[in-house]
Amino acid sequence: MLDKIAALQDEIRKLTAENAAQAEELRIKYLSKKGLVSVLFDEFKQVAPPKKKAVGMALNQLKNEAQSSIQALKEQFENSETKSTQVDLSAPGSSFALGSRHPLSLVRNQIVDIFARLGFTVAEGPEIEDDWHVFSALNFPPEHPARDMQDTFFINKDPDVLLRTHTSSVQVRVMEQQQPPIRAIFPGRVFRNEAISARAHCIFHQVEGLYVAEDVSFADLKQTLLYFAREFFGENTDIRLRPSYFPFTEPSAEMDVSCSICGGEGCNVCKHTGWLEIMGCGMVDPNVLDACGIDSNKYSGFAFGMGIERIAMLKYQVKDIRLFFENDVRFLEQFTAAE
Ligand code: DAH
Repeated sequence: MLDKIAALQDEIRKLTAENAAQAEELRIKYLSKKGLVSVLFDEFKQVAPPKKKAVGMALNQLKNEAQSSIQALKEQFENSETKSTQVDLSAPGSSFALGSRHPLSLVRNQIVDIFARLGFTVAEGPEIEDDWHVFSALNFPPEHPARDMQDTFFINKDPDVLLRTHTSSVQVRVMEQQQPPIRAIFPGRVFRNEAISARAHCIFHQVEGLYVAEDVSFADLKQTLLYFAREFFGENTDIRLRPSYFPFTEPSAEMDVSCSICGGEGCNVCKHTGWLEIMGCGMVDPNVLDACGIDSNKYSGFAFGMGIERIAMLKYQVKDIRLFFENDVRFLEQFTAAE
């Protein structure tokens, strides 16, 4: 037995391999379950007890030697194989695939930036609201159709819990907490119980604006919105205000911008009118100021609200609002180059 061990030891000390595969073959030949070294361990069981100690020691040494020399052979190839493909430090780095901002975030950020330049701060309010903040404080008469079950997602009746249908609710929250001067915009998500189509969705986003101080006039509103329109759509943009109705503003108006696609000539996007409707606005109704604890004899203000999807659709000529919510990378990737 000792002779066999010595012979195998000799053999193992002379082992060479030309590549990693050969080294692996050697490992199998000597060290696998049925390998030559393992077989000796089986035979060890038959060794007479007085010799067991010496044979056992030799056998263990053989095994250790075999493991370390075969391992050394393997490592030699691992090293040389990496050496041959060694890192070229002068090679340019591999680039990571960059994601892109969602087009709605891009547009929201642009709107926030423009109003920030006029001194507007940003505030947010809850998406889950009550009747007071979404309707009552905003001067909606009790029987107003906007409170109808068809428009509003009610979570609970009595006490009222509902999903806000517009960001105008944040006006109320801000005015309840803060005395004028107030100059802020409120971007956020709103919910309406509407059938989903290419032009409407039950979830969308708005940016609301509010300015309350002493002697705020309709001229301030108009100038602010003209500045916004030119910053956002380009310096040649014109605006027009058409009389309209909202319970929370008096007078109220709808603002159009001259169509940036045809320059006002008339095209498919502006339905050949040369104008695009982009927001509602008006002077804050004194009832709203009073409901929020602001003295309407001393202060006046203007407010406006616009849909981010609508503006993004106009800016990027997106024909279907549903694309914003599907998160199809083929759609989103197109905005990688946008600011
Ligand atoms: N809240 C209105 C809507 O969702 C938009 C709006 C119109 C907001 C006029 C205003 C405003 O602040 O003055 O349709």
